[in-house]
Formats: sequence, C-alpha cells, structure tokens
Amino acid sequence: MQTLFTNISSLVTVNSNGSIKIFGKEMSDIGEIKDGALLFDDKIIWTGTSIEAEQSLISGKFIPDKIINLKEKTVIPGFVDSHTHIVFAGDRSNEFAKRLRGATYQEIASEGGGILATVNAVRKASIEELVENGYNIAMSAIRHGTTAMEIKSGYGLDLKNEIKMLEAIKKLKEILPITIKSTFLGAHDFPPEYKDKRDKYVDLICNKMLPAVAEQKLADYCDAFVDKGYYTVEQGERIFKTALDLGLKLKLHADELADVSAASLAARMDAFSADHLLFISDKGIGDMKQSGTIATLLPGTAYFIRMPYPPARKMLEQGLAVALATDCNPGSCFTENMQIILSLAVINMKMTAEEAITAATLNGAAALELSDRMGSLEPGKEANFIVCDTSSYTDIFYHFGVNHVSEVWVKGDKLITNY
Ligand code: NIG
Ligand code: FE
Repeated sequence: MQTLFTNISSLVTVNSNGSIKIFGKEMSDIGEIKDGALLFDDKIIWTGTSIEAEQSLISGKFIPDKIINLKEKTVIPGFVDSHTHIVFAGDRSNEFAKRLRGATYQEIASEGGGILATVNAVRKASIEELVENGYNIAMSAIRHGTTAMEIKSGYGLDLKNEIKMLEAIKKLKEILPITIKSTFLGAHDFPPEYKDKRDKYVDLICNKMLPAVAEQKLADYCDAFVDKGYYTVEQGERIFKTALDLGLKLKLHADELADVSAASLAARMDAFSADHLLFISDKGIGDMKQSGTIATLLPGTAYFIRMPYPPARKMLEQGLAVALATDCNPGSCFTENMQIILSLAVINMKMTAEEAITAATLNGAAALELSDRMGSLEPGKEANFIVCDTSSYTDIFYHFGVNHVSEVWVKGDKLITNY
C-alpha cells in the first residue's frame, strides 16, 4: 500500500547521498524540504515538494492508495538510540535521592551501590520480569520517537545471569515492533565474588562467557567499561581480542569518569563506536579521526550525574562522526526520551539543531550498522519516521521538555498516535 503525505511544513530527509556515516561539517546538511511531500510503502519511494507531488498525481505518475494532508507538521527520520541499558530490575531512586543531598556517583558505587545494586536485583529477577521492564521502557521510547535501539547486558556479571539478560534482549527483538541490536557487556563492573581477583574475572569473560555468547549468537557487539576504577586498557584489550576472534564487533564505554586513553583503544581495535568520552584527550580525538570510529555522546549522563559535558564542538571541528544516544539506565541516566538528549546536546554541548538531528538519526544508525537501511528518508530505506506537531524542526529544541511526537511510523505502518 502506497501513502502520500503532502503539505509537510518541514520535511527533514538527512540526506546521506549513500554515505554510511556523516563526519564533522557535513553533519549540518540535513536536506530540509519546505512544504514537502513523501511517498512511501514499507520503504521510502520518493521525497520532494508538495507542488511536485501534485504534478505527479495529475500526470498519473503517482497512484497512491492514500493521501494524507499533514497540515503544516514536521517529519523527520525516527531516532536511533544506539546506547541503552534498558533491561534491568530493581529501583535506585534511593541513590538518586542521596546524590541530590550531595553524594557523587562514584561515592555511591564505592559503598556497594551503583551498578552492583542493579546486579543484585537482576540476579534475583526472572527473565519474564526483565522482558516486561525492558518492553515498557522501549515502548515509552517509541512514543518519544525512537524507531531502532541497542540494548546491553552487564547487570548479571556471571555466566548464567549475563545469558539471562541476553535472552531477555533476544525476546525483546522478537516482540518489539522496532529493530533492536544487542550488546554483551559482561565487563561492566567486577562482580563482588571477584572483588579482589579482577584478572580472574577477565579470564572468566574470555574463556567462558564470550565463547558461550558467540556460540549461542546472543550478541551483535561486545562492550567494556574501560575507565578509572573499572577495567584497565590492558584488560579491555584482552576482552576485545577474544571478542574479535569469536566474530563479535566492538563498542566501548570510554573515558567517562577520567581520561584513561580508552578512546585510543577503541580506535586501535576498530571499534564501531566509542561512547561517553567526557574526558577524551586531544590524542584520543586524533586517533578516532584516523580510524573513523563514531563518537557516541550521551549528554543525559553528564547532566544526570553532574559531570562536565564531552567536548562535542572540538570533535565536530576535528571532523569526527558524532552520534547521540540516551544511555538509558537506572543509575547514571534514567531517560528513554531522545528529544531531551537533543535539547541537552544543543544547549549544553553547543551542537547546532542540524548536527544534533544527524547525530540522533543517521549516525546513530551507523553506530549499529543499520544506516544502509534506516536513519534518513531516502528512496529504498525503511519508512521509519516521526511526525512532530510543530511547523519547523527547530521547535523541537525551542519548546523543550514536552513530547512533540504525534505519530511514529515504522516500515510504513503507523505504530503510535500520541494525543
Ligand atoms: O553508561 N558507565 C557505565 N555504565 C552505565 C551506568 C550504569 C549504572 O549506573 O547502572 C553508564 O553510565
Ligand atoms: Fe552506558
């Protein structure tokens, strides 16, 4: 079934012209068509102006089954949230309250809270509970405009519970109406039983966990938290070499709490993305430029744990491909709303609206190797887009803190209508 949208006040195509990711300056060109029109079935067939669409209707070139007058709304590609931890159990609002009274994220972690608090809850939870929690957050993300998403394990920290988490993600791949990619993050923290023998836990990851995950095809990527107080560069490198040998591709939590040269590790190991990067050094930026590694920025985390924002302007000026994602998790950033992330990116990281949109769509898709089939509105790509109740894309940033998404379309089907 073919549908034609007409009278789109602002149609943002994020035209990639066939590029799988977009670097630095080029991120400013989002291919906006004013008074636009869009023809699609499950894929995008054509984009242009309403006048061109009118002519094609008259000449019989377009014979859509349905014509919808969008009445001056904005259409942009659906957001691709390439970094989340939405499968979890338990509640850490008590930690948040402590942080509001002055405790830092690291202080809470060193008292046995933080990631390990969620590990305790996940170990006790059933797979059904994990699926239900993840499903509810993912559906809320979709209502806020997300049309593809990555989900990480990392709150099991032993073979049985990491597999349980990945099986929950596998189930979510089946039941959610959007594309999901899964990431094994057994190296998220050290479990309490390996507190004083960290290298032995790295042995367990390399000798038992990664081979099981690869054999059961439970993950698309392997990630590790290489940072001060967590995994060292050497431990990260060992894990990554094993993962690569087993056919898994790499992502990395890099330089979030301090500069430990994790960005350079990501570049050296050809990771698809290095994420966070609050404390990235100039050398790290240079190495990522050389390798073309995507810099996935998560400004919600800097906001939520009151840390300095990553140097987005410097990265863009140096020509990196920047992506934006939520990092949605119960400790360091509890939001599944990509619109909030865009607002933080433009106000606090000084990205332009155009750069932020490219980062949250095409480059997010690239960070999950999906940009050949989504992330922009170009003929042949999946018809994944959102209709916003605004007359220009700038209003998504200008009128902040509300949900502008009135409709979410995935593969040409309307999934959500928000009233
Ligand atoms: O991306 N950096 C490590 N992991 C998460 C935090 C997870 C948590 O606190 O539960 C992050 O910030
Ligand atoms: Fe994260």
